[in-house]
Amino acid sequence: MIKVITYGTFDLFHEGHYRLLQRAKALGDYLIVGVTTEAYDETRGKFNVIDSLMTRIENVRKTGFADEIIIEENAGQKFSDIKKYGIDIFTVGSDWVGEFDYLKDYCQVIYLDRTKNVSSTMLRERNRPIQRIGIIGTGRIAERFIPEAKLVSGVSAQGVYNPHTESALRFAKRWEIEAYTNLEEFFSAVDVVYIASPHETHYGYIKASLEHGKHVLCEKPMVLRKDQAEEVFVYARERGLILFEEIKTAYCPGFNKLLGIACSGSIGSIRNVEACFTKLEKVNTRELTDQTYGGSFTELGSYVLLPILKLFGTDFQELRFDTIRGENGLDLFTKTSLVYPTGVATATCGLGVKADGRLLIAGTKGYIVAEAPWWKTTYFEVHYEEANRVDRYSEIFLGDGLRYEISNFLYMINKSNKDNFKLTRSESIALADIMEKFMKAENRTDENMGA
Ligand code: CTP
Repeated sequence: MIKVITYGTFDLFHEGHYRLLQRAKALGDYLIVGVTTEAYDETRGKFNVIDSLMTRIENVRKTGFADEIIIEENAGQKFSDIKKYGIDIFTVGSDWVGEFDYLKDYCQVIYLDRTKNVSSTMLRERNRPIQRIGIIGTGRIAERFIPEAKLVSGVSAQGVYNPHTESALRFAKRWEIEAYTNLEEFFSAVDVVYIASPHETHYGYIKASLEHGKHVLCEKPMVLRKDQAEEVFVYARERGLILFEEIKTAYCPGFNKLLGIACSGSIGSIRNVEACFTKLEKVNTRELTDQTYGGSFTELGSYVLLPILKLFGTDFQELRFDTIRGENGLDLFTKTSLVYPTGVATATCGLGVKADGRLLIAGTKGYIVAEAPWWKTTYFEVHYEEANRVDRYSEIFLGDGLRYEISNFLYMINKSNKDNFKLTRSESIALADIMEKFMKAENRTDENMGA
């Protein structure tokens, strides 16, 4: 019996897939088809797969060509599958020519001609028109956003808005996009808006974008007042638009794996969460000079509060800030303590004091520790009472990580379910509430904050 194997994502099942499977089956007597998991596709930079794994398997099954369907979870699996299943022929489409020649030592490798003029990518683009992204702001984070957006199929950076002509032009030239200094023109040229301007301008830009019917992806902290957060979410919902707060950690696969393990019961009931993130800044930066909106907490607080809200929820009973200030009065280091009915938490952040940035989650049976930069989670350990028992987990984090949130954002635009479980509305509202309480504790007010 000649055994054949082939692999693919098989998203939005199309004629090219059908013909490939038909010819693969004809190469032998028994065909095994490996279908990729979402997680594996993400690691190889394939975002925005639309059909679920179950749907993709079902579509392969319906062709009747596959004698067996398996799941493909990682790049090294092909080699072991060939051994495990006693494969005689490995085959894929001609878009992969040369790529799998290393398997020739173990079986025959055949590249079949690809069917012309059809691909999942083409179908995704046809069914779902490209979302043109307009960027508000031209700072460091906006610079990081564009190369990441280029990696997500289904979106394209269209233009940038900055009221300062020179900054808009410089940024637009660098990234070969359009520059806008007029908001109306900007809104009419884009479908979605990414807000990466200074914190205090977010609220106004979110409202203006939603008023113009645009979905919004907004940098953290989204807004600095609870009532503003509630208002903008209602506003978005009434208009059927997506409003999405950007904290890259919330969307990255490693952090979500860590939350899953923390909530699985393996460390028992969670009683303490400690999260710390410090980044030494030069003294003359906006972060360390802006008397109203600068300082460590507005800059980094969202990151360190995130795991606490995720694990303990938004109903804390006590909240307290302890702060070390610089000469100009701005917080250089802030320790936020939260008390919950079932546990306690501290969120520590610093721009002028360096500390061991780590995430520690202590439970009744064990603890999880992720070292800096845990906010781009790639590795964490689970420890138990028996000192030599340690479970180790690793996960990929590609590039600057913004691609994960962009693809989540796009997924939400395209799906009818508008709930963002990775960072819920109530979590974003709680973050704004804590920001507001901090600003009040620091006596920072202006017309944007309300008296
Ligand atoms: N395939 C093919 N002809 C096409 C499209 C795909 O023969 N027009 C083959 C691929 O070469 C591969 C298998 O079908 O062997 C599964 O491919 P997959 O990557 O799932 O499909 P694509 O349509 O190429 O997907 P994408 O556009 O997302 O890369």
